Amino acid sequence: MILKMYRSHNCGELRETHQQSQVTLSGWVQTVRDKGFVVWADLRDRYGITQLIFDEERSSKEIMEIAKSLGREFVIQVKGTVIERASKNPNIPTGNVEVLVSEIKILNKSLVPPFTIEDQTDGGEDIRMKFRYLDIRRNPVKNNLIFRHKVAIEVRKYLSDQGFIEVETPYLIKSTPEGARDFVVPSRMNEGQFYALPQSPQTFKQLLMVGGMDKYFQIVKCFRDEDLRADRQPEFTQIDCEMAFVEQEDILNIFEGLTRHLLKEIKGVSIDKFPRMTYDEAMKKYGNDKPDIRFGMEFGELNAIAQHKDFGIFNEAELVVGIAIPGGAAYTRKEIDALVDWVRRPQIGAKGMVYAKYNEDGSFKSSVDKFYDQEDLAKWAEVTGAKAGDLICVLSGDANKTRTQLSALRMEIAQRLGLRKKNEFAPLWVIDFPLLELDEETGHYHAMHHPFTSPKPGQLELLDTDPGAVKANAYDLVLNGNEIGGGSIRIHDKQIQSTMFRHLGFSPEEAKAQFGFLMDAFQYGAPPHGGLAFGLDRLVAILGGQETIRDFIAFPKNNSGRDVMIDAPAPIDDLQLKELHLKLDL
Ligand code: AMO
Repeated sequence: MILKMYRSHNCGELRETHQQSQVTLSGWVQTVRDKGFVVWADLRDRYGITQLIFDEERSSKEIMEIAKSLGREFVIQVKGTVIERASKNPNIPTGNVEVLVSEIKILNKSLVPPFTIEDQTDGGEDIRMKFRYLDIRRNPVKNNLIFRHKVAIEVRKYLSDQGFIEVETPYLIKSTPEGARDFVVPSRMNEGQFYALPQSPQTFKQLLMVGGMDKYFQIVKCFRDEDLRADRQPEFTQIDCEMAFVEQEDILNIFEGLTRHLLKEIKGVSIDKFPRMTYDEAMKKYGNDKPDIRFGMEFGELNAIAQHKDFGIFNEAELVVGIAIPGGAAYTRKEIDALVDWVRRPQIGAKGMVYAKYNEDGSFKSSVDKFYDQEDLAKWAEVTGAKAGDLICVLSGDANKTRTQLSALRMEIAQRLGLRKKNEFAPLWVIDFPLLELDEETGHYHAMHHPFTSPKPGQLELLDTDPGAVKANAYDLVLNGNEIGGGSIRIHDKQIQSTMFRHLGFSPEEAKAQFGFLMDAFQYGAPPHGGLAFGLDRLVAILGGQETIRDFIAFPKNNSGRDVMIDAPAPIDDLQLKELHLKLDL
C-alpha cells in the first residue's frame, strides 16, 4: 500500500521510464547545493536518494526561497515532475533523473546533525552511539538491520516448515545457570525478593518438552551480566530450540539444515558437508574449541623430536608445539622480533618464541641452531607441515596455556595474511565436550555447558573417579572461528539430575530450592529431549562478513554496558527505592 498523501514513490524508485510523471516524495534533506539561480537538493529515505532541482526560470519565487532555506536533515515533502538529468550520476540507481519541484512543504526542521549522514561519516563511535537514531539513517547501519530482519524471517520460515512452534517464555524468572551473573529485578509485591532475567530460556524449554510441545523454538532476548567483547552484549538474542524424542544425531541434522538454508538463501553459498571434530581434536589441532578452518596452519606437536636435546626450555615444557606461517621465511629480523613481542604481550602471555626459517633452497636457519641441526629442523617442518619458504613458530610451556597462545598467534597471522576471507564460510560441529570444567581458582568443577547436560552413555560412573574425563552429549556449531550455537542432550531422569547437582557442589536442599520445579516435572513423564541455541547477533554479523555484533543491533550497549543514548543504567528516586524495599530508612 502506498501512502498517497505523503508520497507516491520512494526516493530509490524513480528511473528514466518515469520521465514527465508527476510524483510526490517525502524524506530527509541530505545535501543542498545552492548555485544562486538554481538549487539542487538530495532527498533521502530508507530506499535511496533522489535529486531535486529548483530553478529560477521554472520554479516560483516562493519555492526558491524555501529551497534556499533548507538545512541538512530537514524533513520535507515535495511534488514535481520527473525530468532527465543534465549531468547523470552512474553511482546511484536514480542517477539519470531528477525531480523539478513545483510544490514543497517543510514537515519538520532539524538541528545541524553532529556528524554527516553518509556511508563514510566523520562521526566517531561515541557520538554515533549517543545519536544512534541518526546513525540508523546511514546505509551501513540501516542495511545491517534490514539484513538481520531477512535472516530472522528465513529462520522462522525454515523452523516452521520443519514443524517447530514458536512459544514465548517469561522474562521475570528465577536464575538459569549459564555461567554468567544474573541481572536481577526487585519485586515490589514480595519484599526482599528478586526476579532474575533469563540468561536463556533453558529450563522453560525443557518444561515445554515435558508439556508435550515436541518441537519448540523462540527468537528471544537473553540477559547476561558478563564482561563485554566484540561478540558479546549484556542483552542479546538467541534462536532457542528444543526437541523431544531425539538423539544428538537428529539435532545435528536439523540445525545443519537450518544453517545450510541460511547460507543458501542469504549468501547464495552451498555447503556440502559440515565436518565434525571432537573437542579434544580441536584443541590438539587448533588450540581452540572454535577453530577457524578456512585456512590450514594446523598445530604440530614437537615434544617427541624437540625434547632431550640440551635445550632446557623445551625439556621442561609440558608441551612444545608449532605452526608454519606460509611465506614467513622471507620475514626480516625486525619482523620476526615484532612477532616475538606480539606473543609476549600480557594479553597473550607467552614467555618467548622459537622460530626456524625453512629457506627456499631447502636449508633451515633457526633461533636455536646451537641445539638443533638441519636434520632435526627438517623433522619440525614435517610435523608442522612447513614448506620451503615458510617460517616455523614454536611455543612451549603448560599445555593448555601454550595452546591458547599459539591459537592467538595463528588467528593473528591469518588475519594479517588475509586468510580470513569474509565471503568464505566454513562451518563445523565441535562435539564430545567435557561435561565438567575445573575452576582453577576455587578448585571446584562446574558444568562446561550447563547442569542439565547429560554425560555420554556409560560415563556416569566416571563422575566419582575422574570427573574431568567425563564427556558430555554436548555440541557447538562453529562458523569461521566463532561459536554461533551450542546445545546438548539433556538429562531427563530425576535421579541422574540429582547426581549431577551433587557433583556440581549443590546440597540436596540447594538443588531443591533452585531447581525443584524441574526435578518435580521430571517425575511426570519427561520425554528424552535435547536442543541448542544459536546466537542470532553473532550469526547475523558473521553472515554479514563482520565479527562485531554491535553493528547489527539497533540500540546496543557500549563496552561498559551503558546505553549512552538514553543514559542507562541510571539512579532511581528514593520513593521508588522504598517501594522496592531497597531503601528502608525514609
Ligand atoms: P550458550 O550459553 O552456549 O547456550 O548460548 C548459545 C549461543 O548464544 C550466543 N551467546 C551470546 N551472544 C552475544 N552476547 C552474549 N553475551 C552471548 N552469550 C552467548 C553464542 C552461543 O553459542 N541454553 C543453552 C543452549 C542449549 O543448551 O540449548 C545456551 O544458552 O552464539
